[in-house]
Amino acid sequence: MISQLSLIGPKGNAISVATAGTGPTLMLLHGFPLDHRLWLAQLGSLADFYHVVAPEFRGFGGSATSHTAYTLRDLAEDVEFVRQHLAGEQPMHLAGLSMGGYVAFEYWHMHRQHLRSLSLLNTKPSGDDTAARQGRLTTAEHALAAGTWEAVQPMLPKLLSAVTLSTRPQVVAAVESMMRRPTAPAVAAAQQAMADRRDFTSLLPSMRLPVLVATGEHDPLAPPVATQAWAASLPDAKFVQIPEAGHLPPLETPEAITDLLRSFLF
Ligand code: MLT
Repeated sequence: MISQLSLIGPKGNAISVATAGTGPTLMLLHGFPLDHRLWLAQLGSLADFYHVVAPEFRGFGGSATSHTAYTLRDLAEDVEFVRQHLAGEQPMHLAGLSMGGYVAFEYWHMHRQHLRSLSLLNTKPSGDDTAARQGRLTTAEHALAAGTWEAVQPMLPKLLSAVTLSTRPQVVAAVESMMRRPTAPAVAAAQQAMADRRDFTSLLPSMRLPVLVATGEHDPLAPPVATQAWAASLPDAKFVQIPEAGHLPPLETPEAITDLLRSFLF
């Protein structure tokens, strides 16, 4: 059974968290512009083995929109706040997809003593180049001027594989529902934070913990060849390409992600 909690963070901001199960803690961090529903299948299927904890970033799902600008480092501190309140004394497993992966890198940088393992899904350690950064600032302005859906809609074909888009209308509808939920200021703030994120590439060789790196066979945002290349710089990494998935394997191929996480974490 999935429970939905609201924690009041250190700055008085409400942080919404979905939890399920008992056992070692597995924290799941969603991508942009999504929420904990990215992980619904895993909240169900992994709850027999883990205390699964899926917090929602500022302004996404049920979490309050931040009234001030924030960085991905601040989001990693929100993750630490959630860990302190909901995880036990033992180090936790942390998994992040895309933007959730960017936050997971920050979390590792500041709080690695609390980590047992890291799963980096459909993400990358690098920062934005000039064009990508400019694109984010344009998206942020567009959201504020025209609204959330108008700004994020062009992402939809990049999030799901062609097979998912043409044969899984319920998955497309679930993604669209998540994408429509955040307010325009939430979208703009997250784009700004991602544009300002730091580059962890040079730190990869110093990440001395078990790391799972996985991406979808058809993910244009974290393509398999590029992902496998940076994963090779990690001292203790397993790289997996997920067949038939695009950018959102937890929704597109949920059994494959559940099996992958189970076999990696055991
Ligand atoms: C995500 O899925 O979180 C986004 O694609 C991340 C990004 O825009 O870089």
